[in-house]
Amino acid sequence: MRVGYLQFGPIFGQKESNFERVASFLDSAKADLIVLPELFATGYIFESREELVGMAEDELGPTFTFLRGLSLKSGTAIVAGIAERDGDDCYNSCYVFANGEIHARYRKVHLFDREKEMFTPGDSLFEVCDLNGVKIGLMICFDWIFPEVARIQALKGAQVLCHPSNLVLPHCPRAMIVRCIENGIFAITANRVGSENRAGTELTYIGTSEVIDPRGEILVRSGDKDEDLRIIEIDPARAFDKMVTSQNHLIDDRKPALYSQICTEETPPPDG
Ligand code: ACM
Repeated sequence: MRVGYLQFGPIFGQKESNFERVASFLDSAKADLIVLPELFATGYIFESREELVGMAEDELGPTFTFLRGLSLKSGTAIVAGIAERDGDDCYNSCYVFANGEIHARYRKVHLFDREKEMFTPGDSLFEVCDLNGVKIGLMICFDWIFPEVARIQALKGAQVLCHPSNLVLPHCPRAMIVRCIENGIFAITANRVGSENRAGTELTYIGTSEVIDPRGEILVRSGDKDEDLRIIEIDPARAFDKMVTSQNHLIDDRKPALYSQICTEETPPPDG
């Protein structure tokens, strides 16, 4: 399976030019699956909720039309971060497009910083989807810091975790190595580059998009500034092998009966 990502620098509010940028990169790409960054069409820092509401789209919107068309023309499945509008709610979502159709949707559960003032959190049960026999998991940017997200999708059979991002903190590229080792899965993190200075906030995005394998090897990793399309061949069946040693299995060796405290709403009191 040929998989990869497009790391690029969307211009805030310029959907058409962001579409053109993506289309020109993907024009000659030969891949089965490409991941684009979080909020790739709009940019990230919304001045206000009203601004977000004006730019977010339902499934008839121009970003959906563009990605349906691109997935059909290219024959490549595309995972992309989109500002989604559903009635009065806006979600920081990602969608899988394949053969001109919407194949799956995930609404970001763990909102980062000012996103909490803008978006409604998703209430996903972290379903995985099937793409030509390969199980695909989805998460968005800051979800990385909650190991439960990758774990539950690994338990549901995810082999390749797709991770559209707008990373600003430095830790995620290293953390994703651990997410892959502890779950025995591949991960594709597609981050953006460049800066935005809006609403009194300046953010510089760290690039460093990457594909990690089930043993935590970095198969490809981009720099922190340049736009970059990277595609590599992986064997998703490697994610079926959960053995760490001949006597240790990542999934079967878990002791869920001892972990129940992490599945309650209350924070456990500290000991002592
Ligand atoms: C982030 O979740 N966009 C940092």
